[in-house]
Amino acid sequence: MPDAFSLDLTQRPRRLRRTASLRAMVEETVLRPADFIAPLFVVEGKAPPDEIKSMPGVFRLNLTDLVKECRALHKVGVPAVALFPKLDPKLKDDEGTQALNEDTLVLRAVRAVKKAVPELTVITDVALDPYTSHGHDGVLNAARDDVANDATVGILGKMAVLQARAGVDLVAPSDMMDGRIGAVRRALDAAGYTGTGILAYAAKYNSAYYGPFRDAVGSAQAAGTRLLSKATYQMNPANRREAIAEILLDDAEGADILMVKPAGLYLDIIREVRNATRKPVAAYQISGEYAQIQAAARLGWLDLARCRHESLLAIKRAGADLILTYFAKEMATLLK
Ligand code: PBG
Repeated sequence: MPDAFSLDLTQRPRRLRRTASLRAMVEETVLRPADFIAPLFVVEGKAPPDEIKSMPGVFRLNLTDLVKECRALHKVGVPAVALFPKLDPKLKDDEGTQALNEDTLVLRAVRAVKKAVPELTVITDVALDPYTSHGHDGVLNAARDDVANDATVGILGKMAVLQARAGVDLVAPSDMMDGRIGAVRRALDAAGYTGTGILAYAAKYNSAYYGPFRDAVGSAQAAGTRLLSKATYQMNPANRREAIAEILLDDAEGADILMVKPAGLYLDIIREVRNATRKPVAAYQISGEYAQIQAAARLGWLDLARCRHESLLAIKRAGADLILTYFAKEMATLLK
C-alpha cells in the first residue's frame, strides 16, 4: 500500500531493512563457531569447578574437568582453547621458577587435552605472571623497580620450547617484552619445533579491565604497591600509532597471528592492525569486558544475549579474524 504522503526521495536505505529476509541478505558480518577461542583456567587437585566471583559462568577447572570441557567445546565447533594455570601460591617465587618445570600444571594440562581431543588447537600463554610472587610477567631487575627485558626474554624462549614439547599448536607470548617474538621463534626452531606457531599479543594495553583475570589466576598480589603497574611494558591506552609499530615488529619477527588486547575498547586499533598486516588478526575480549556485560545483565540493565552477540559482532566487524572470549562455548552452541 503506497503511503499517502511521500517525499521525493531516490535513495531509501530503509528498503533493505524492511523484512527479515532482506536484512539477512545484506548482512555484512556473520559470526560462526570457528571464530572463537575459549580461554580456560586450570587448577591442581580434584575440587569441583570453582566459579570466579567477578566472572559468572567461568570456572577454575581441575585436569579431569578441563578435559571434559575441551571435549564439549570441540563438539560445539570451537576450534581452539587458550589455557591459563592458577598456581598454588606456595609454588610462586620472584623468578617464576615453576614456569620452567617440565611437569608444571599447564604442561600436564596440555598433554591431557591433546591426548583426549587431538583435533582441538591448544594455545598457551608465554609469560611469567602465573608463576611470580609479585605477579609481573617477567623477572625483576637488580634494583627491583622494573621488569628486566632481556633476562625475561631468555626465560620465555625456554618456556615456549617446553610448551611445544608438551604438544601445543600455538604459543602465545603475552608479556610485551621487546624482541620476544624473534627470540621465541629462534628458540622453537633451534629445538626443532618449526611447525609450532606464534600467536603474538602484539598490541597489549595496560588495561584496568584485566582485574577479574588477575583474580582468576591470583596474579594481583602486588595490588596497592607500585609493583602492580605493568605500565613499563604494556601499552599506554592513549596510543594508536604505537600499536601499528608494535604489530609490525611482531609481524617481522615471525608471529603467525597478531593479537590486539583488549578488544571492545580498542576497535579502532583492530581496524588499523587489520589494514597494516596481511596476517590473521586476533582480538581478546578480556575478563573485564565479559564482567561488565554479565554484571549489567544481572542487574536487569542490559539484555545478556543481545549484548553478548553485539559485542562480538563489533569486534569481528572491526577486522578480527579470531576472538578469544569467555562467551565462546555459549556462542558456538547458539550458532551451531
Ligand atoms: C598476562 C595476561 C593477562 C591476561 C591474559 N594474560 C592480564 C595481565 O596482564 O595481567 C588478561 C586476560 C583477561 O583479562 O581476560 N600475561
